[in-house]
Amino acid sequence: MSQPEPDRETVLVFGSTGTQGRPVAGLLLDEGYAVRAVTRNPEAAAGLTARGAQVVAADLNDPDAVRAAAQGADRVFLHLPLSFGAPGAAERARAAIDALVAAGVRQIVFSTSGPVPHAPQGIPGLDDRVAVLRHVLDTGVGTVLKPTGFMENFAAPWSAERLAAGELAYPRPPELQVAWVTNDDVAAAALAAMRDPATVGQVFVLAGPEALDGPAAADRLARGLGRSVTYREIDGTEFAEMMTPYLGAETAKAIGSGYDQMPRFQDPMMIPDGGPAAAALGIRLTPLEEWARTRDWDAGGRPRSA
Ligand SMILES: NC(=O)c1ccc[n+]([C@@H]2O[C@H](COP(=O)([O-])OP(=O)(O)OC[C@H]3O[C@@H](n4cnc5c(N)ncnc54)[C@H](OP(=O)(O)O)[C@@H]3O)[C@@H](O)[C@H]2O)c1
Repeated sequence: MSQPEPDRETVLVFGSTGTQGRPVAGLLLDEGYAVRAVTRNPEAAAGLTARGAQVVAADLNDPDAVRAAAQGADRVFLHLPLSFGAPGAAERARAAIDALVAAGVRQIVFSTSGPVPHAPQGIPGLDDRVAVLRHVLDTGVGTVLKPTGFMENFAAPWSAERLAAGELAYPRPPELQVAWVTNDDVAAAALAAMRDPATVGQVFVLAGPEALDGPAAADRLARGLGRSVTYREIDGTEFAEMMTPYLGAETAKAIGSGYDQMPRFQDPMMIPDGGPAAAALGIRLTPLEEWARTRDWDAGGRPRSA
């Protein structure tokens, strides 16, 4: 591993091969940071190396590997991958966070990856996130980003093709609203948080600028795609069938049944006001239509800039 230049801060980015971490790593590289990109499969991360990142192998479930990866890093971007929510996941996440602190990092910018309530609700996956959020703040070096639903869900491989063909199929009642936020804005928030030491100890609720029900989201996407899009509510079983070829049957089924268990009324945590966090961090929140224009829908919803 080559050493970063002395005047550049080093940021360890977890999930750097994934939907959330990739834009964070990309933005930090654009801004001149030395990025240490974490993956469990370095050989599959050639794109990050080509962009100038140092690729390091570490599994979040292995605190020794996490500590070694973080040695000498100034800051960390961290989020919990899908495997969290399994038995013991919160303990493993706490151990990983402790390992980062033991390595001496000055800041952990932690994305909760979705809405998190103030207190445990008796739902294992959610309660893990409550416990981990508190643990991050307890370290004294944590900044928490709390996003809503990600616009990138619409560009997931199981959704993009259907969307391009004119259907937004999603396992939620059409009348429920979500203030969708793009991971590009979450990345901008992470960068802003890293630039401002006053953000340590704070929680920032990140939400897109519009609360949209299903048909309104379809309308914004239709404008962005330049073609007609209709919203169709599906159940968790059909959603699981869509995801199975990409995530495997077990993970897809778990996600699908998670949606079936969600209450069928409006969750206020999906439509918070993102304005105060955006103002505090000095970032602009991207509307869904504008985000959709940044994607190539004839190429699976890939970013046009990629
Ligand atoms: N709010 C929303 O709308 C929304 C939507 C989708 C997902 N989520 C949440 O977002 C999280 C997933 O993030 P994502 O969408 O970025 O996932 P993703 O695109 O599937 O990528 C997962 C990333 O996590 C890394 N990873 C997985 N397990 C790991 C481990 N044990 N140790 C170290 N790294 C590990 C993977 O790295 P390698 O494979 O390279 O090792 C990959 O970079 C989950 O918590 C999920 O519930 C939220």
